[in-house]
Amino acid sequence: MSVLSGKKIILGISGGIAAYKTAALVRLFIKAGAHVQVIMTPASKDFVTPLTLSTLSKNPVHSTFYNEDDENAQWNNHVELALWADMMIIAPATANTLSKMVNGNCDNLLIATYLSAKCAVYFAPAMDLDMYKHPSTIASFSALKQFGNVIIPAESGELASGLSGEGRMAEPENIIAFLEADLSSKLPLKGKKILITAGPTYEAIDPVRFIGNHSSGKMGFDIANCAAKFGAEVILISGPSHYGVTNDAIKLVKVVSAQEMYDACHHYYNDVDVAIAAAAVADYRPKTVAVQKIKKSDESFILELEKTNDILASLGKIKKNQFLIGFALETENEIENAKLKIQKKNLDLIVLNSLQDEGAGFAKPTNKITFIDKNFNIEPMELKAKEEVATDILNKIINHYDA
Ligand code: CTP
Repeated sequence: MSVLSGKKIILGISGGIAAYKTAALVRLFIKAGAHVQVIMTPASKDFVTPLTLSTLSKNPVHSTFYNEDDENAQWNNHVELALWADMMIIAPATANTLSKMVNGNCDNLLIATYLSAKCAVYFAPAMDLDMYKHPSTIASFSALKQFGNVIIPAESGELASGLSGEGRMAEPENIIAFLEADLSSKLPLKGKKILITAGPTYEAIDPVRFIGNHSSGKMGFDIANCAAKFGAEVILISGPSHYGVTNDAIKLVKVVSAQEMYDACHHYYNDVDVAIAAAAVADYRPKTVAVQKIKKSDESFILELEKTNDILASLGKIKKNQFLIGFALETENEIENAKLKIQKKNLDLIVLNSLQDEGAGFAKPTNKITFIDKNFNIEPMELKAKEEVATDILNKIINHYDA
């Protein structure tokens, strides 16, 4: 999944021949899962039509402060547009538009929106080679960089003038690659490796039967998706679950039993920065697994169980620098029991679920949790969708590394 997925993007188009390439650029933004609104300078309409761009972006194209031909016209609110955006990309950025951006020369909607934007601004210059090298252009680049704007450098090649050299707007594919690389490098968990356990475990009784539980795996998969979105490399070790992964940053390791989950966790643990145990691991398993299907010959049947290894406790025991997070599902004396688990399993943070809270726990889209850290600071959270709970958990990790 692209880091551009879900991003709200304003594409500002100024009047250069490279404007014709913005049709492909909009298409690529949409393909990456972004939401796009296009603002055109009046001059850019000579090179590409608003109809093309509104069709591709699936949004009306903005170019004037209001529609002069429509007496019911409404003011195009550039402030609202700017605040809507997560990022603004000005492509092509002509020498004229760059100079207006530097000087705040606000004579069109694009510049007015630029001046109102609080989001990240990128610009992809496009001009003839001598214009690209002119001290005035270089001064614009330098001023815009000082403003915190990011240049997507022009490429070399054949130019509209017939000359050849530097000044061609970066190709749409390269603009996308540049933005994805830049966004990825700034993600808060970039460079961090996170191990997550998820789902139930199944403990075999015989070749066809097992002891399991109702965990769907949703909480763990949501945490994995959120961690990947924040830039982490994720190893997701999951018991049987119908959820899958689509993000390349998540390596899904499928296991069945508690012992398999234990082995997989220990295989990866040394190498990770964070481990989050969200799995509902069986505490007991049948002492022996029948080789053949057990026949119902007797009136009653006793199954002897033995304890499984506590995966989380075993990770706590060998913990070096890892930030270790466990879950606790309690039905009574919740806080006290959770505190005991922090100590017993050598955790940095515990995510407490109480089954007394409505909407918390297994096979539900929501969860109500309380964070307790190793210093026993207690932070109760509201009932939230599991995706939001996942974000809260990841934010705890980000705060840990920022502190
Ligand atoms: N856990 C684990 N391995 C186990 C059992 C539990 O890694 N064999 C992890 C869970 O993933 C969870 C945490 O330990 O993060 C707490 O699980 P929970 O079932 O609430 O507690 P237990 O330690 O099993 O204790 P009890 O069932 O007695 O409350």
